[in-house]
Amino acid sequence: MTRKELTIDYIEYASIEELNAEDRLLVEAAIDAMKGSYAPYSNFNVGAAVLLEDGSIVKGANQENAAYPSGLCAERTALFAAGANHPDKAPISLAIVASQNGVICPYPASPCGACRQVMAQCQTRYGRDLKVILAGSECLIKFEKVDDLLPFIFDNI
Ligand code: THU
Repeated sequence: MTRKELTIDYIEYASIEELNAEDRLLVEAAIDAMKGSYAPYSNFNVGAAVLLEDGSIVKGANQENAAYPSGLCAERTALFAAGANHPDKAPISLAIVASQNGVICPYPASPCGACRQVMAQCQTRYGRDLKVILAGSECLIKFEKVDDLLPFIFDNI
């Protein structure tokens, strides 16, 4: 028997101003993407923005539905839109931001397991790490790769 330990790595920032220019632009795009949120049931508006390898940005927002499980999180909306519209361009970063009653949440929303799985397969599909930035008004967290959000990733490609 061998007991093993796994460490995860992330960077915490106190404000958007601490981010580098590229990351800041992506968080601003995620904030803008919240305008597309349709969340009449939760009133929790989430925006996501994906930066592709050519510098273009694809936005997504959560889409809810009366048949609750039919709705989709902002992260998957953005990643699937990127895959559908730019299949040959690898996503390199994903920023996520949430708000309630028009106010950005102070602490970032943490992606659900299904979104983490989709992020993980994005890395496998394109053969490169996907950075993930979770943004709040008082705290931002950056992961250099999805493995730090989802260890022991399921992957059967
Ligand atoms: N939601 C997201 O879009 N992303 C997250 O990271 C957390 C949750 C959405 C799903 C649902 O529309 C609402 O937020 C409440 O859970």
